[in-house]
Amino acid sequence: MDLKGKVAFVTGGSGDIGRAISQALAAAGTDVAVSYAGEAGRAATVVEMVRRAGRQGHALQLDQRDPKSIDLCVGEIVDRFGRIDILVNNGAWNIGIPFGDLESLTQDIWDRILETNLRGPFLLSRAFASALRQHKSGRIVNIASLAGLAPGGSSIAYASSKAALIHLTHCLAVALAPDVTVNCVAPGLVEGTRMAERVPQTMKEQIRTQSVLQRTGSAEDIAQMVVAYCRADSITGQTTIVDGGNPLGMR
Ligand SMILES: NC(=O)c1ccc[n+]([C@@H]2O[C@H](COP(=O)([O-])OP(=O)(O)OC[C@H]3O[C@@H](n4cnc5c(N)ncnc54)[C@H](OP(=O)(O)O)[C@@H]3O)[C@@H](O)[C@H]2O)c1
Repeated sequence: MDLKGKVAFVTGGSGDIGRAISQALAAAGTDVAVSYAGEAGRAATVVEMVRRAGRQGHALQLDQRDPKSIDLCVGEIVDRFGRIDILVNNGAWNIGIPFGDLESLTQDIWDRILETNLRGPFLLSRAFASALRQHKSGRIVNIASLAGLAPGGSSIAYASSKAALIHLTHCLAVALAPDVTVNCVAPGLVEGTRMAERVPQTMKEQIRTQSVLQRTGSAEDIAQMVVAYCRADSITGQTTIVDGGNPLGMR
């Protein structure tokens, strides 16, 4: 699919990886709406970058744990742009809790992570489904994590939410075919991001030394995978790991 003139919505566009995805989509010719949860200033900077690339940009507040907020968001995007072609479910929340410390993973934390990282992407996909189907070439790209494929990452709840997001990708690919493709990018640790700061230090050191390319993935590499999935007409239900070559992700 030629991305010129298409409209994308990147959730968590105020985040580090969301910024890179929004920039890459704008460079590919796409107008981009980005959401933020609390960081309006960071989202405004991303909108500025999109506009400097010659595309339309717009920022809106979204709490993807709240179905009402999702509905408002869908209405605002469709009203403003008149269409939606690409949904990137990138927004997520984490907190560092070592796997062995089961007591610290409270029910409230579990619910917050699952509501944000799994139920949110499902509700967003459902809410945008009819608009995405309209031009028979819709795209959903979910941003999961290597933690969803091999036990690791910031907490058991986070890893479980991302494992479920990978399977949600498979299920939605079936549900929305043939009008919408649904794919997933699973980053390993992305150093320098706010989320990576919340991964326990011991785990970060372990991840760095495991990667066969002797580097971790970059936000730009993740963004380029998102663009590739958006361009592809015959790929759906797939997950690509971007992690510098951690053997845990090789299968
Ligand atoms: N960074 C990594 O090492 C890494 C590794 C593997 C996977 N990932 C995945 O990559 C994606 C982006 O991560 P990142 O590093 O860019 O994280 P980040 O900088 O922390 O950004 C997270 C984004 O999600 C938004 N968000 C948080 N809670 C939300 C809620 N309830 N409703 C809607 N949006 C919410 C944040 O909004 P505000 O900032 O406005 O509050 C922010 O825009 C996530 O899905 C993450 O799980 C990241």
